Amino acid sequence: MLWIKTFHIVFVVSWFAGLFYLPRIFVNLAMVPADSTAERDRLLLMARKLYRFVTPIGVLAVAFGLWLWFGYDFKGGWLHAKTTLVIGLAAYHAWCGMLLAEFASGTSIKSHLWFRFFNEVPVIALLIITILVVVKPF
Ligand code: HEM
Repeated sequence: MLWIKTFHIVFVVSWFAGLFYLPRIFVNLAMVPADSTAERDRLLLMARKLYRFVTPIGVLAVAFGLWLWFGYDFKGGWLHAKTTLVIGLAAYHAWCGMLLAEFASGTSIKSHLWFRFFNEVPVIALLIITILVVVKPF
């Protein structure tokens, strides 16, 4: 079980690296002047590569979590609350994909300030999920 938990944590950390950095690229994309196509293309390429790289990692983080849950019969309200938050994170991840498509098609209208607040969502989720799984308050 400890090997599965080890891989679970490694993939979780890697997934969050992407969930933290991708919206930060969006902040920069939202600030690129309209005539700076080279900078826009460079940031778009970075975002596309990061999204493609971090998506299977997110799937593996969840897969190892489910393996722990069902393979070792973990129980408790903390696990249901945690899984609900993880479903929210998966939706956030998919939303990042849609925002990336908006930037690629030049139809993104959200301000860099909006993306700065958007960037804080995974931070709050990480804090609550870690408390749930380590402290198991209920
Ligand atoms: C559906 C997705 C997930 C499921 C079903 C799941 C399930 C589990 C289970 C059953 C454990 C073992 C708990 C224990 O040994 O006490 C665990 C450990 C852990 N999970 Fe997840 N997890 C999921 C996603 C995540 C995510 C997104 C995070 C991000 C913060 C996360 C962070 C952790 C951490 C830090 C541990 C180690 C806790 C410890 O050793 O005390 N998990 N997970």
